[in-house]
Amino acid sequence: MSQTTVKQNLYEVYESKIQSARTRFGQNSGMLDVLAPDMEPIVLELYFIYFNALGVAMTDSVEDWIRRAGERCQELGFTEIGELLCKHAQQEAGHHLMMIEDTRTLVNRWNELRTPKLDAQWFLQLPIAQSTKYYRQLHEDVIASEAPFAQVAIEYEIEGLSVRYGSQVLEQAKKILGSNITENLSFMEEHVLVDVGHTQLNAKLLKKLLGENPESMRTLVKIGGTALDTYASFLNHCLSLAKTHWEQLKQEGFATTA
Ligand SMILES: [Fe+2]
Ligand SMILES: [Fe+2]
Repeated sequence: MSQTTVKQNLYEVYESKIQSARTRFGQNSGMLDVLAPDMEPIVLELYFIYFNALGVAMTDSVEDWIRRAGERCQELGFTEIGELLCKHAQQEAGHHLMMIEDTRTLVNRWNELRTPKLDAQWFLQLPIAQSTKYYRQLHEDVIASEAPFAQVAIEYEIEGLSVRYGSQVLEQAKKILGSNITENLSFMEEHVLVDVGHTQLNAKLLKKLLGENPESMRTLVKIGGTALDTYASFLNHCLSLAKTHWEQLKQEGFATTA
């Protein structure tokens, strides 16, 4: 069997082993609610505000995590994977700034259309979510471990979410909130575009890793699955905050839309 066929076969084994975690993500992330045809517009709008505001702490270290994982790979002799990770790191620089900006413009949009007025800073200063703490710790653990290359599995699964769900979420946003909502969803729009390429790179790295270290399969599947579970719980948290917020507004008598 050629080396390319071996790599392809191992990659397909990874794909089948990670499938249950991807299915769990579909069920536990709140995505079914977010994409439901009868999604309440105000809840969806609040969801995007919470997602962007709380997402800053999910995103501001991405460049740093990938670069440090890449450096550690090089230290441990996974030279090429390490170099490619370091290159990828540069492509992630400053992405959290889009989330800060989207939080602000989404709140501005809300304030033009709805009462009561919201304060973007209030959302941006919310305490870090428990799921975010786990997510950040997962990266630190991977970087410090003997398998820092498992960062590839995290990136492959999480950037893959933009590819698998991003367009559907944007379509839903336009349908429920109007097509101009995309002006306020720059992080999501940009990631639907760029993460196609990033996911292709991650797939290439994953194949390379598995080809050279087939014994890393278990670690890659485990870390990729944990990243998905943690991200699902983060998204679910954003959705439940949005729902609670809407309930409170209704109780306070603010049941009006634009
Ligand atoms: Fe990014
Ligand atoms: Fe990316």
